[in-house]
Amino acid sequence: MRGRPRPREQGADLRFHDLRTSRSSFLADALRGLARSPKRIPPKYFYDARGSALFEAICALPEYYPTRTEMAIMRAHIDDIARCVGGRAQLIELGSGASTKTRLLIETARPSRYVPVDISEAALRAACARLHADYPGLPIHAVCADFSRLLRLRPPIVRADAPRVVYFPGSTIGNFSPEEALRFLRRLAAWLGGGGKLLIGVDTKKDPAVLEAAYNDAQGVTAAFNLNLLARMNRELGADFELSRFRHRAFYDPRGWVEMHLESLAAQQVRVGGRMFTFAAGETVHTEISCKYAVSEFQGMARAAGLEPLAVWTDADGWFSVHLLSVRGPR
Ligand code: AVI
Repeated sequence: MRGRPRPREQGADLRFHDLRTSRSSFLADALRGLARSPKRIPPKYFYDARGSALFEAICALPEYYPTRTEMAIMRAHIDDIARCVGGRAQLIELGSGASTKTRLLIETARPSRYVPVDISEAALRAACARLHADYPGLPIHAVCADFSRLLRLRPPIVRADAPRVVYFPGSTIGNFSPEEALRFLRRLAAWLGGGGKLLIGVDTKKDPAVLEAAYNDAQGVTAAFNLNLLARMNRELGADFELSRFRHRAFYDPRGWVEMHLESLAAQQVRVGGRMFTFAAGETVHTEISCKYAVSEFQGMARAAGLEPLAVWTDADGWFSVHLLSVRGPR
């Protein structure tokens, strides 16, 4: 851990809090994950500066419908959404990345404070500099952290005396397994407290051909994003992966999710952090799950977590959903 929050003043209304865990947790997670059978690495490690830039490029791909569909839903219903969210709330965005969709909310719901949380320092700093220039009166408390560490978000980063509205767009909830998602929503509901709200983007189940195309784009950007995980281990952990000896694989599992893997193209040995790992030809490292939920299915999970559905907005094809949920009871 890097210790307690150390806000650095960058002007009256923009503060940066570094709540990242130390680099050794990447090493520890990589060693643990590669020793497992089947091998796996948590998807949060995709997002170094290059991974974040590749993810932004994915969001603009013709095959990757979630970003533009969610944005269209937000644009079409922003007045309604802002009214339901309520004015002057403190808006906490989990996995804020480039904060693109947030601009609509900032302009329409006029939050009293914006707290973007993202693991990638470069993406967070760049996004906050732009937001600070465009909305000079909006207090911004940027938090560089793994967003699942909710308990570390406490005063002075968030105010104790104002309702909390968490914005969790992009269907990032899908990157948890259904069991993990339920546990996370429970923790989120407890952290929000009575009167707190969650505005969340959730990708829906649809034709597997559409889903598989979204994660196997023709330009190979998703493949580069996936393979960057190996390049990142080479850069940061002194690993010796030969990227040309692995390939990107993504497929739909009819249980309701897309899985991404890195497949070894040959029998080989790779050194990571001074340890040797053996790969059989065809063996894979599981790098991501991306769960898709029907509207009623997600609402059922949210209720089980203590979050009451208030409203849901979708596009005409039902390809994406934006849910507003609240926690009942007093703060
Ligand atoms: C961030 N997350 C919701 C994306 C997804 O669709 O699961 C990450 C991604 N992986 C491949 N393409 C996009």
